[in-house]
Amino acid sequence: MPQGQKLTLFVTEVYRVGLAPISAQNEALEALAYSLAEDDGAGQAWCAAHKYPGYTSYGSVNDLAWRYPLIEELKAELTREAQAFADMLELDLRGRALRLDSLWVNILGPGGGHSGHIHPHSVLSGTYYVRVPPLAAALRLEDPRLPIMMAAPPRRDGAQPHRQAFIYVQPQAGEAIFWESWLRHEVPLNDCEEDRISISFNFAWG
Ligand SMILES: [Fe+2]
Repeated sequence: MPQGQKLTLFVTEVYRVGLAPISAQNEALEALAYSLAEDDGAGQAWCAAHKYPGYTSYGSVNDLAWRYPLIEELKAELTREAQAFADMLELDLRGRALRLDSLWVNILGPGGGHSGHIHPHSVLSGTYYVRVPPLAAALRLEDPRLPIMMAAPPRRDGAQPHRQAFIYVQPQAGEAIFWESWLRHEVPLNDCEEDRISISFNFAWG
């Protein structure tokens, strides 16, 4: 082992937290997701146009918290946890609050996925998991330095997680996972026979 001093720099932090008051209502959230999917014609059209493998309200509905008290309750929990994560990250928000500015429901069908992307106009992003069947797709996170690594060798098989370029986080129903919005993420192929239901969100600054 090297004898010198190691500095750990430029760390990427991800925050996982169980939302007990909400998870007790996951069955109601699941019913809400399916009824929304059935009634939201504009959303169905958006999903067809964008070849979304299931249903998402992303392109059609922007007032879920106003429509559904349960989503309003989720919004309050997420806002509290976003602030806790921002404090953990030591973000200097200059006295301005983080504000949940978008929230959308996703029903990802068997064989569905969502290719790698970032959320460019937000500070914190994340997902609350309503239903995660066995073998449902994980969340794949990517080292943000990857595009500038050029000639850097890959890491060895079995390298420690904080040194790997890709990390798979297996979400659990009832938990929210938060990350900074610049972190590239992906939902690989949902290789199970059942729907995976989640609610994603963005927090903006001020
Ligand atoms: Fe995303």
